[in-house]
Amino acid sequence: MRRPLICANWKMNHTLDSSIEFIKRFAMLLKPVDADAVIFPPFPFIYILHEYAESSGVYIGAQNINENEKGAHTGEVSAEMLKSIGVSWVLVGHSERRNTYGESDELVSKKLKTVIDSKMIAILCVGENIETREEGKAVEFVKNQLERNLESVSPDDMKLVVIAYEPIWAIGTGRAATPQDAEEIMSFIRKWLNEKYDNAIAETTRILYGGSVTPENMASFAAMPDIDGALVGGASLDPESFALIIHGAASAKNG
Ligand code: PGA
Repeated sequence: MRRPLICANWKMNHTLDSSIEFIKRFAMLLKPVDADAVIFPPFPFIYILHEYAESSGVYIGAQNINENEKGAHTGEVSAEMLKSIGVSWVLVGHSERRNTYGESDELVSKKLKTVIDSKMIAILCVGENIETREEGKAVEFVKNQLERNLESVSPDDMKLVVIAYEPIWAIGTGRAATPQDAEEIMSFIRKWLNEKYDNAIAETTRILYGGSVTPENMASFAAMPDIDGALVGGASLDPESFALIIHGAASAKNG
């Protein structure tokens, strides 16, 4: 049985004060649930939120990582730095990193390897743009991303990988995929994992949906057999809304 996982991707939002306000309020709202919750704040707030997070039942992760060990990389953050402040979850290959910041599949694969080698958990994001979807090539596109990004990831390392399917056209647009369309891709991902690795890995790897998830639509995604949770952007910035999403996912999954 896969444990539900709900992630908050804050992107470049919040300040120190509003982050602390969020976590204090969120700690009061979050009921004990049979699910994992992770908040990915901007780098400057990770350390302080980590202090609060322990008591509020969430993990704190990083939105990005540099693939090099250390040295002359102005503006970058290494795995060792993240580990030294208690981070154990990292987003890799978000479409905003791929498209706005030019991260190639090769770079995404290196970052993924860096996270895994550091024994942190990577949330690998994949997903097609609107043109690819309209051409009916979404499955093929996602398959190619998986083939390239997981090429050198061993079966054993898959314990440290979560896959997030985030169709680009659904991110920040208010136009979520239908749960059926999302499920079609997620079940394909599971089938692909079974072919590349084995049935046990296909059955244990958590796969999330991302793209305009809200408290209103979360349960309909979580009701799908292959959707194990969500990666939430806009609707995760407010503690009430993010807590509702977690409760909605956990009750849809666990009854
Ligand atoms: P959204 O973002 O929920 O605002 O659509 C999701 C994401 O980019 O991870």
